[in-house]
Amino acid sequence: MSSCCLGLRRSCFLLSVTAAAVLLLLLPRGQPPASPRRRPPPAGPSGTAPKREEPPAGSDVTGERGGSGAAGGGRDIAASPWTDRRSRVGPHGGSARESLELKDIFIAVKTTRKYHKSRMELLFQTWISRARGQTFIFTDWEDRELRLKAGDHMINTNCSAVHTRQALCCKMSVEYDKFLESGQKWFCHVDDDNYVNPRTLLRLLSAFSPSQDVYVGRPSLDHPIEAADHIQSDGSKTSVKFWFATGGAGFCISRGLALKMSPWASLGNFISTAERVRLPDDCTIGYIIEGLLEVKLLHSPLFHSHLENLQRLQGESVLQQVTLSYGDPENKHNVVSVGGVFGLQQDPTRFKSVHCLLYPDTIWCPNKKMS
Ligand SMILES: *[C@@H]1O[C@H](CO)[C@@H](O)[C@H](O)[C@H]1NC(C)=O
Repeated sequence: MSSCCLGLRRSCFLLSVTAAAVLLLLLPRGQPPASPRRRPPPAGPSGTAPKREEPPAGSDVTGERGGSGAAGGGRDIAASPWTDRRSRVGPHGGSARESLELKDIFIAVKTTRKYHKSRMELLFQTWISRARGQTFIFTDWEDRELRLKAGDHMINTNCSAVHTRQALCCKMSVEYDKFLESGQKWFCHVDDDNYVNPRTLLRLLSAFSPSQDVYVGRPSLDHPIEAADHIQSDGSKTSVKFWFATGGAGFCISRGLALKMSPWASLGNFISTAERVRLPDDCTIGYIIEGLLEVKLLHSPLFHSHLENLQRLQGESVLQQVTLSYGDPENKHNVVSVGGVFGLQQDPTRFKSVHCLLYPDTIWCPNKKMS
């Protein structure tokens, strides 16, 4: 500038001031009306063609949908403290983030020899057929038929088949190790009497980043539990209070948090942690996360176990839940209320009816819903 402006310093100065002013005036308007912000593709399980219009991500995590928050018997909490607690790791807003796909989720199904036929066949026929790639079956028996069906997605934990704390913790320990090995972004545990809705699961987890500390599920108690975890030098015990998500309703943990659990959970450490506090598998998970790592459980009303009154879940809201369950043989009327499709005789657990409502293109679903 100096060389060209030497003789015309004054006019040059005026010119640049004017140019700068004009630029300043133009700048805000000069921008395109809407910056082309990258929008994540619509959430839908890979390999399937979702037909229904999905509400925007995160719309169902507040539990305000009719019916869903109120479901539950005496042991279940009525109101979800989700909104109070989520501030800690709150779902992020519209910032550019990678969209989550079903393949990023590791779903562990815990079963046992006794239920390979009855319970697992129903799951394969229904929701697992829509999430085959990400579902792993953890059992205690080398079953040739199940192996043929699931291939290397069946994991024989070599844990005992008895329903004791040690045996259950042994399975959870293998689930955890396999998840870390998988490199996937989310770990979700369910039982063999759970229906998992892959679309709503994806939508729920899409609200978070897997690098955040996220532990989401439903407590079966309405109060935190207490565990004595340290013995002082004078012989007295210190205890810690914590919430835990009931394993029977399913729960999910982000990879970021799972990695932090490693000292107490990986390679057999989970079993010794559970032994130390003398707690079942799902409580031990809560103990490690809330008690030791001081990360709060996000209470979600979208997970359901057979401990609740499932009949309170009715109609459309059934299809908005993340997990469902059904009552034990002694309590076989405890099932979700979903009409049409199949009768109670043909579909005592209601899972087939739910599946046909979610995926009407399934080959064994009736062409037309009965009304
Ligand atoms: C269970 O035992 C079999 C045979 O010894 C072994 O191949 C398999 O890796 C074991 N499973 C686990 C999870 O350690």
